[in-house]
Amino acid sequence: MIEIAIDGTAASGKGTLGKKLSEKYSFPYLDTGMLYRKVAYELIKSNKINTEKLEQTCCDFGTIVTFKELKNKNLRTEDVTKLASKIATFPNLRKILNNKQKKFNNLSKKKYGGCILDGRDIGTTILPNADFKFFITASLEVRAKRRLLEKNISFLHENDEKCMLQNLMNNMRERDNQDSKRKISPLVPAKDAHIIDTTIINPEELLLIVTNIIENNMSC
Ligand code: C5P
Repeated sequence: MIEIAIDGTAASGKGTLGKKLSEKYSFPYLDTGMLYRKVAYELIKSNKINTEKLEQTCCDFGTIVTFKELKNKNLRTEDVTKLASKIATFPNLRKILNNKQKKFNNLSKKKYGGCILDGRDIGTTILPNADFKFFITASLEVRAKRRLLEKNISFLHENDEKCMLQNLMNNMRERDNQDSKRKISPLVPAKDAHIIDTTIINPEELLLIVTNIIENNMSC
């Protein structure tokens, strides 16, 4: 049974890598950031962002979140993204979502022989004994450009594009800081992770590097 843990910064290519590995090896894949996004989305939708009992409210939403609800493009807005990073600092919410991730991993391994998780603390906290750990990163500018391309806005004036890129870079820098400086489960590479910088490589090249590492180190 194989566990693959992928961590890294936003827009580093870890999600695409997770999906491609899932197709290649037929193991289920979970983008764990979507769990935090779903809780943030529910907070915004129910107008409870300013509630005094914010952590408890997050825990209530976290307890009832199901994996089926995570494929929703509303979970990708900038508001949800910022709030997800903020609530991800709550220890009690993390406990609830960590249990869900571990359950997903155990069920997937039993049923399909393997599992792939991507997030911020997979190699350090969720799957500390994973067979393979990868930490994916890239320069801030390249990551922001990738996000801008994903937005698929073809009519932008050059100045608007510069401005949007700058905004994306500022937001990403802030989120990277918040994620890597928090006390509980910060974004850091596991000691035994393969660290890969994707600034000048494309998703296919990344997949090749990663599958070479996996296949050269398979014990069976
Ligand atoms: O990966 P994604 O950008 O969707 O994650 C949104 C936020 O969720 C991150 O900025 C991070 O604060 C939080 N997160 C986390 N631990 C994970 C996955 C995501 O703290 N395993």
